[in-house]
Amino acid sequence: MAHTTKAAPAAGTVDLAYDGKSLSLPLIKGSEGEIGIDVAQLRNKTGMITFDPGFGNTGACRSAITFIDGERGILRYGGYPIEELAAKSSFLEVAWLLINGQLPTRAELETFRSEVTLHTMVHQDFGPSFEGFPKDAHPMPVCSAAVGALATFYQQPETEQSIRDTVTRLIAKMPTIAAYSYKHSLGQPFIYPRNALDYCANFLHMMFATPCEEYVVDPVLAKAVDLLLILHADHEQNCSTSTVRVVGSSRANLFASIAAGISALWGPLHGGANQQVIEMLDRIEADGGDVRAFVDRAKDKKDNNRLMGFGHRVYKNHDPRATILKKACTDVLGAKGLASRQLEIAMKLEAIALSDDYFISHKLYPNVDFYSGIIYKALGIPVNMFTVMFTLGRLPGWIAQWIEMRHDPDTRIARPRQIYTGPTVRTYVPIEARSA
Ligand code: CMC
Repeated sequence: MAHTTKAAPAAGTVDLAYDGKSLSLPLIKGSEGEIGIDVAQLRNKTGMITFDPGFGNTGACRSAITFIDGERGILRYGGYPIEELAAKSSFLEVAWLLINGQLPTRAELETFRSEVTLHTMVHQDFGPSFEGFPKDAHPMPVCSAAVGALATFYQQPETEQSIRDTVTRLIAKMPTIAAYSYKHSLGQPFIYPRNALDYCANFLHMMFATPCEEYVVDPVLAKAVDLLLILHADHEQNCSTSTVRVVGSSRANLFASIAAGISALWGPLHGGANQQVIEMLDRIEADGGDVRAFVDRAKDKKDNNRLMGFGHRVYKNHDPRATILKKACTDVLGAKGLASRQLEIAMKLEAIALSDDYFISHKLYPNVDFYSGIIYKALGIPVNMFTVMFTLGRLPGWIAQWIEMRHDPDTRIARPRQIYTGPTVRTYVPIEARSA
């Protein structure tokens, strides 16, 4: 775990004029040339704060993990383009890269693989804690609760070594927990991990095997899962990652911070969108397949329907993950000889939206969630497990960001300010004197 935050070089100053005075604010520059105004002294010196709902203009940290250029559709982990990693790497190798800041040697990767493999089982007392959840519980809160509960099994004081152990345990046990949450919803017995299988094949086995008959994992499907996990592995300071950092900034442990990140990811505007996309495609199909009518509804501000899987806070040109997934969709379906009515509708929807003035002028393009659900569906993953798949992928990114935050000398407990708009001071009114 070698992440240390480098000081960003100074890049001049910018002057802020206010009330006839002026304050010189330092500029800092990232390695890809982005410039930030350092406002750390702003309130001390002027009494004013910045106002930025949704943090669209706020850099909350310096980070060396992931670079995104949303205008040019670029995504790189540790400097490596996502297209190259998707074509040549594996999820565990990418996890190592994110957490350690460099690609592993063969020996490092083998050690990591075997450590992860040896920690896939959960404590025997852990299984019964699933029993209390209703069978129809969504697997995301179940996973969040389960990851939080791991902290009750591993209570060692926090040291570099115990954090390393937690990292291995989380990466190893997350697929087990995810598959357990699915088996619980079916009322089927939990399937133990198999150490002879690789990471993704083991997950598919735990999901779909039963004690009654042999289940042989299809390598095409395991490879597709591996690709999806790579594409989800990190995305710099998104909602769930910022949640992990904010929770971790209070010195909450890694299990607690990741449990909070899972809850944030569940939201339909974030990781929950992949489930919403499939539900939207099904709705369009059920309503007779009129794709243009749906696009018109998505543009209508009085109608609550957005085009799910479209738009992104950062990507304003294209989401490179969506491009990779669109091709993977046709490859996987082709290799398995599967036809997908959902893929047909999705492609029509994309074609209409991409030639529509509203979507062009709003810079709305398919995001990672637009095609991922179609592949998950083809793999036999149930719809309510889609966001859990995103969780499996995003885990190493959350971990890497948490570790980087912990080692950053600039880290302080996250504590934004506000502009108060409530009543000014008033005198307490006794209850008998209040009007009805
Ligand atoms: N369909 C129709 N209109 C949209 C959409 C959409 N999917 N997304 C944004 N807009 C419009 C929005 O109505 C607004 O229009 P106007 O300026 O005329 O009022 C404008 O575009 C800007 O939207 P915003 O909500 O202010 O943009 P944001 O950066 O805050 O939100 C987003 C980004 C991803 C939440 C949003 O695009 C969205 O809700 N998309 C659908 C949900 C989705 O696919 N989420 C997955 C994101 S990728 C995976 C991940 O990182 O979690």
